[in-house]
This record gives sequence, C-alpha cells and structure tokens, in this order.
Amino acid sequence: SRRAILGGAALLPLLPRRGFAAARFPEDFTWGVSTSAAQIEGAAEIDGKAPSIWDVFAQQPGRIADGGTPEIACDHYHLLEEDIALMQGLGIGAYRFSIAWPRVVPDGIGRQNEQGWAFYDRLVDRLLAAGIKPMPCLYHWDLPQALQERGGWLSRDSIAWLSEYARAACKRLGDRVDTWFILNEASVHAIFGHGTGEHAPGIAGGNDGVLQALHHQNLAQGAALRALRQERSGLTLGTVLSLQPVVPETESRVDHDAAIRWDAVWNRLALDGLMRGTVPEVLVPTLGKVVQPDDLDLVKTPVDLIGMNYYSRCTVRHEPGRLLDVGWGRPHADRFTAYGWPVEPQGLKEMLLQLKTLYGNPPVLITENGAAYADDPRGGPVQDDERITFLRDHLLALQEALEEGCNVKGYMAWSLLDNFEWQMGYKMRFGLVFVDFDNDRKRIPKASYDWFRRVVGTGIPA
Ligand code: NOJ
Repeated sequence: SRRAILGGAALLPLLPRRGFAAARFPEDFTWGVSTSAAQIEGAAEIDGKAPSIWDVFAQQPGRIADGGTPEIACDHYHLLEEDIALMQGLGIGAYRFSIAWPRVVPDGIGRQNEQGWAFYDRLVDRLLAAGIKPMPCLYHWDLPQALQERGGWLSRDSIAWLSEYARAACKRLGDRVDTWFILNEASVHAIFGHGTGEHAPGIAGGNDGVLQALHHQNLAQGAALRALRQERSGLTLGTVLSLQPVVPETESRVDHDAAIRWDAVWNRLALDGLMRGTVPEVLVPTLGKVVQPDDLDLVKTPVDLIGMNYYSRCTVRHEPGRLLDVGWGRPHADRFTAYGWPVEPQGLKEMLLQLKTLYGNPPVLITENGAAYADDPRGGPVQDDERITFLRDHLLALQEALEEGCNVKGYMAWSLLDNFEWQMGYKMRFGLVFVDFDNDRKRIPKASYDWFRRVVGTGIPA
C-alpha cells in the first residue's frame, strides 16, 4: 500500500485523485536539480568577479527582507565538491545552474576573466566526472552592473551584449557542454526588476519599463541563439520561461480582462514571440513604441527545448494604478507555502496542455518546481513532509500530462540548496538540503532529499 511504501510516514495526499497506483516515469526521463549563480555561489568579490545588479541592489537599505546579500550565499564557489557529491547522492542525471556573467566578463563586454572561467571549467569537469550532465543557463538575473550603467535591458544594445557573452561561453565550455539555456524567466525579470522595482535593478518603470525590458530580452535571446548555432553545430538550445495559468479572482468582466492582460505579459509575450513571431493583441498599443521592423523574426529564432518553471497559477483582479491595472487576487486554493503561494499542482498540467494545444507540443523540461517551507533542523533532521507532498503532487500532475500526450522530457527540483531568495533574502528556504547560514553554511539533507533520491532511483513518485 501507499503507506507501506512511505515507511509509515503520514503523507497521504490531501486531495483524492484517480487511480493511484503511482505510475513509473519513462526510462529516459531526465531527473535533475536547478540553482542559479547569484543565489548560491557567493564569492561576490573574489577572483576578479565584478558586481552584478543584485550585489548593488542588495546593498541599498530596505531592499531585501532580512538585509541579506548574495555576498556569501551558500558559498558554493568554495564548496563545489561537496555540492556535487550531494547531487551524486541523489542519483540525478542533469544539473541546471547559471553562469555569473560578471564573473566571466566583468564589464559585461570586452575583457574576460580567466579565473572566473576556471571556476566553470572545474564545475563542468566535476559534473561530467560524476555522470551529471551540465545544463548552464547564461542569464539568471545577475546583469553586470557595468551594463546597467549603460542602460541595461532598457537599451537595445543589450542584444549585442548578450550574444557576445553567449559566444564567449560557448567558445570556453562548448567542447563539454551541449545543452544551453539562454534566459531565465524574462517576464519575471521585466515585471519585478523594471516595472515594480521590487527586484534588481529596482526600476519602477511601469508598463513601459516592463515591455521594453521584456522585448529586449526576447530579442537578445534570439541573437544569442543565433550566435551559439554559428559557434557550434549539434547543440540543444533552450530558454527558461515562468509559465503560470492566469485566472481571474471573480467572474466579473473587469477581472476577466485583467487576467487577459496579465497572461499576455507573464506568459504570452515570450511564448507567442518565440513560437509564432507574434505579439499578444492586448499589448500591441503599448508595445508599438518598442517593436521595430523585423524584430519579430529575431524573437522567433527557434529553440530545441522549452525550460518551464512552474510554481502556481496567478490569480488576478482588476486594480487601477497597478501594472496594466492588474493586482493580485485571492487564489482559489486550500493550501499555501510559507511564501504564501497557493499549492496548485493541476496548474502544471493545464500549462503543459496549453503548450500542447496552442504551441505545437514542443519538448519541455521542467527546469524548476518546488516550495518554501519553514524548515528547522534544531529538533533533529528536517522532516519537511509538506515539501514532499508538494513535490509528489506536482509529479503526479505531470504524469497526468504525460498520459495526455504532453512532450515533457524531464523534471528538475528547485532547489538543491536553501539559498538567497532574491528580495526575501534567506527567509524562504526552497532546498532539498538545509543550509545553516549561521554555521559555516553547513549542509543538512532534509527528508525531501531522501524522498527525491528514491523517486529518481525508482521513477515512481510514491
Ligand atoms: C524562479 C526563479 O528562477 C528562481 O530564481 C527563484 O528562486 C524561484 N523562482 C523561487 O522564487
């Protein structure tokens, strides 16, 4: 029985679901974990790394909930071997990390930093030796501050900056790395970094800021994809999107329209551009100022793989004065994580079905999925049953999507380690491994680590 498999732990699902003879994932399904440079590496000023926009932003009083900064983070830069051993312990086949642009090209363009590249050489070599496929992401929100000073993502020059950096990365690591992601969650970076200002670079640029930063990222992504294809053949190239079904809080006309607008900016501008070379109808009036002739050809540069990050649905309502006059609505959910995010596993399946029916069922890798809970190892091992339930419910929803023909190739948990959770600092713990930030960044695997190891080993999310 279910209970027997779980060794007596009370982890029965909170929601009844059909036919629970937990199916096995396909043999060739890729299992992995995901991290990002600014969130785990630390060594922010070591071996020639220049500041990123997050290093600068975190220094400004009041920006980060607990005053935390990415300066030391998990100190992964120095604890790389230990972290790879943890990955090996999970038995995973792939690891998505990001390359810190200001570590390898300190000014964003021009001069490269040999010591920075040496770190990623070492990371890639050790991963390969451990039988784990490296899947770097070029840009996970840590723009070199030097480029911010030249306008950052609000400048069209960003197209050339990113493709030059992409080329350098491929020249350096392309003999050992064949799978690359270009961007991480361009819409989220645009909305919170350039619209509301809650994320670095802290620009409260409103609708124009969001749409410019997003369109320029989409363009730069196209140029970077082309640069990589030129640089080497046979690469598997993708980009990572935050995809969340958007639902209106109520059935009112205004909430419905708000949901259309939010969906357009959160999901569609990136997806429609990439998969169809179009712009969502509702954004045309605002975007008109930003889009130039031929832009959509560049945005539509094909990828081989969509990286999909999934956490929850977005429930929204009409709220004048906010971005696109859209505010957060009260989610229709009965469970919430410590972050206050609703637990909505079915949204994962919904989004995958949208990719299937609306966008031609492209190959998808779930590049992030996970939850923050208030873990505490002081009473002994971290028994994070809620996280296990969260992950399991999402994997079951994923199996339903597979049964319905969605083209999902693999799943990566966010995250290996508790880490620097952006404007929340170190308050939100997403790791399968607890990190004691007060005590030498000691790593303590949680119960979810052992659980995920069993899932990876058996292919059964029991
Ligand atoms: C998505 C982002 O890519 C990642 O950096 C972040 O930590 C998680 N969401 C959780 O908020």
